[in-house]
Amino acid sequence: MLAAETPLAGCTLPQSGTRLVCKSACRRSRNRRQQTRGFLRQQSLKAQQQPNYQDEKKLREAVEIISRMPPLVFAGECRNLQARLAKCATGEAFLVQGGDCAESFSQFSANRIRDSFRVQLQMAVVAMFGGGVPVVKVGRMAGQFAKPRSADTEVFDGRELPSYRGDIINGQDFTSDARVPDPMRLVQAYNQAAATLNLLRGFATGGYAGLQRVMEWNLDFMAKSDEGRAYLDVAKRVDEAIQFMVACGLDSHTAIMTETEYYVSHECLLLDYEQALTREDSTTGLWYDCSGHMLWCGERTRQLDGAHVEFMRGIANPIGVKVSDKMDPGQLVSLIAALNPENTPGRLTVIIRMGADKVRANLPRLVEAVRNSGQVVTWVCDPMHGNTECVAGYKTRRYERIRAEVEAFFDVHEELGTVPGGIHLEMTGDDVTECLGGGSSILETDLNSRYHTHCDPRLNAEQALEMSFYVASRLAQRKEKLGQNTKPLAILR
Ligand code: PEP
Ligand code: CO
Repeated sequence: MLAAETPLAGCTLPQSGTRLVCKSACRRSRNRRQQTRGFLRQQSLKAQQQPNYQDEKKLREAVEIISRMPPLVFAGECRNLQARLAKCATGEAFLVQGGDCAESFSQFSANRIRDSFRVQLQMAVVAMFGGGVPVVKVGRMAGQFAKPRSADTEVFDGRELPSYRGDIINGQDFTSDARVPDPMRLVQAYNQAAATLNLLRGFATGGYAGLQRVMEWNLDFMAKSDEGRAYLDVAKRVDEAIQFMVACGLDSHTAIMTETEYYVSHECLLLDYEQALTREDSTTGLWYDCSGHMLWCGERTRQLDGAHVEFMRGIANPIGVKVSDKMDPGQLVSLIAALNPENTPGRLTVIIRMGADKVRANLPRLVEAVRNSGQVVTWVCDPMHGNTECVAGYKTRRYERIRAEVEAFFDVHEELGTVPGGIHLEMTGDDVTECLGGGSSILETDLNSRYHTHCDPRLNAEQALEMSFYVASRLAQRKEKLGQNTKPLAILR
């Protein structure tokens, strides 16, 4: 939760020049011993997708600078998010996680953060009002800088250079200077993350996100598009419902009416950054990666014997793991056992990203294996990363395939009687033309008009909102099937 929490009074900061310091502090409990082992072993394990820094001294300096900086998030907030994610695992809430594929230094702006935050608020209202469940809002924000790449180099016009790995590592320009990994980018990323979080905390708790302002969260396109008009219709009904409740005596100044909870997340990829921000929580003695509330392990770095999994075993944040069709059921069960040995609800989110055509064939055996093993996870659908294609020289995704993957995800859970716990999107509040199709019918010829992403193509605000209406309709359908439906489905399209 972004409301202020008790800070980590007396938290132990990593000492200069060392990455891990929890040896003696963690001798007290089994859980802590396990964390210590995780940290210590992780340094000797193979870490995939790390940059090859040429200046070790500069790297040590950068790590030392951020090691001494305040934590960006607090342990208590991470525990609150874990409790919310546990509700998503049982169907008592639904996760909407989204944001840029890669945050960038050059596109950093308060308006962009506001617009992305605002479209997530709108999506949450649609899903809550239409689907009848609380929505947990988590941004891919304030730390989503490092990118895994399928090749170490890229070739353009016959010239080969190191791949762009995200602004926290190197520059996107196709020049040999820009592509040299610069350790000082870690410091710039930390500062940008801090400023982003500061603004988000202001929006979340300073009045902007209060439900009473539901009619005011307008985006430019709203009155012009079907999705926008449908949102305004929902907003009007929510507003009427609020006015009715206030007339009944509901205090319009309560936190429920004036604030919202908003959490941030990113891929746990660049271990130098993550370790430098890992701190001991003085209340529990557990270690939290204070760079974000939730961290996830990517599809390319989730090896059971790899450094990323070992690092994630050692932190107490709620964590996620991306899973494609390449995952085998036995392997998944072992990975879950390693990441969540106590089987704590909300601790582990499994983010499925298979591609629209592969979900029906591959997801059921994974869900069944996990269910048979008694493991509790929050199942989430990332319909973006399995549906990327190249059209007219642009990396793009078709809205219809993205939606088809979400549909298959809900269908599989419905057939198995298990719980679809959330959705994970690459999206923006801007009016970009990066993904094809949807109600706004972005065409192949539109791609070059507003293609701004630094990495993968994102849903624009209208497409994201359209997706939230679809999700709301599936949540309502699920409630109806379970005999819990309490209201008409008229708003749902
Ligand atoms: C991402 O979420 O940006 C990403 C790279 O995902 P994946 O690890 O699933 O490919
Ligand atoms: Co991506």
